[in-house]
Amino acid sequence: MNLIKPSVVAFALSMAAQVTYAQNLPPLKVGMMLPYSGTFAALGNAIDNGFQLYVKELGGKIGGREITYVKVDDESEPSKATDNINKLIKRDNVDVVIGTVHSGVAMAMAKVAKDTGTMLIIPNAGADAITGPLCAKNIFRSSFTNGQPGYAMGEVAAKKGYKTAMTITWKYAAGEESVKGFQESFEKGGGKILKELTLPFPGVEFQALLTEVAAAKPDVVYSFFAGGGAVKFVKDYAAAGLNKTIPLVGPGFLTDGTLEAQGESAQGMLTSLHYGDNLNTKRDNEFRLAYAKQYRLQPDVYAVQGYDAAQMLAIGLKATNGDITKKDEFAKAVTAAKIDSPRGPFTISRAHNPVQDFYLRQVVGKENKVIGIASKSLADAGRGCNLQ
Ligand code: BEZ
Repeated sequence: MNLIKPSVVAFALSMAAQVTYAQNLPPLKVGMMLPYSGTFAALGNAIDNGFQLYVKELGGKIGGREITYVKVDDESEPSKATDNINKLIKRDNVDVVIGTVHSGVAMAMAKVAKDTGTMLIIPNAGADAITGPLCAKNIFRSSFTNGQPGYAMGEVAAKKGYKTAMTITWKYAAGEESVKGFQESFEKGGGKILKELTLPFPGVEFQALLTEVAAAKPDVVYSFFAGGGAVKFVKDYAAAGLNKTIPLVGPGFLTDGTLEAQGESAQGMLTSLHYGDNLNTKRDNEFRLAYAKQYRLQPDVYAVQGYDAAQMLAIGLKATNGDITKKDEFAKAVTAAKIDSPRGPFTISRAHNPVQDFYLRQVVGKENKVIGIASKSLADAGRGCNLQ
């Protein structure tokens, strides 16, 4: 006689009901608010590619729901950010927003997401405030906080015996917080910052600043730039001959996704980041192969962050059976998860920021080669975040 336990029958019925429930939900509307133009255009496109690659690996559905996309080019323009995200939420009725790259734009987005309760997953912008005072149960980040790679690089620079540094960056949250992270650990290690140089975002008129560096002769220069700005800065630094006498270091954004264009000028540079080109793990090799096949491009850190934003969304929606309005259950699942990222596994902190390793990388040819760990399991402090 075949005996089936009632508990097994109940479980099977509940699973079937859950699958049917998810199948009955309408497609999930995903608002992609990213820079598709300007100095960060390549970053926005890589994030979009990474996100869509993971969705494709899931067979085109997340949490059992088909996906439809609504895309907005945010132009890395903070003054347009509130209007742009409000249109996605109120006019297009998106269920979740994925964005963005620029910290100033992302802070405006976080304010709206917090006020409206819309799910927001940030696949790059590292502004401290987002996992600080602006934190919310419906806001997550798949990337980093701005101070993290800077802090990791400051430790490395101090250990290398550099005593004096100058910093150069764009004058906005990302640049300033990145420099602050570097300064904190560099000074802890006995170093001194001689001068902090800045120029407005997204300016690329570096000559006057490079002349100041040449005159002051610090032991090292720490710099935050990304995308098109990073390409120009690294090339100008080398063209001025400074790379022969004063090492240029930075967060990995300075050389990630940019090496093809930077060529000889970037060779030998040290940077720190939560990704590198030769991790050579099974997970990363599979990701890199799939990405290259799909897009005929090599992935970079931005592609990984987009891919992991989709993974985080999938984890949350699996736990809520496709229902994105169940914010507590969604957050509980994401913060309990170990995310199986191409960068290496990471967890999500109380303030919804990745806790992850930062690699020390060196540019060799067209690769950011990982040559060590700059900081292990680095978490941001989440200062001012009142989430439990
Ligand atoms: C930011 O604005 O937060 C940012 C932009 C590009 C790379 C890294 C951070």
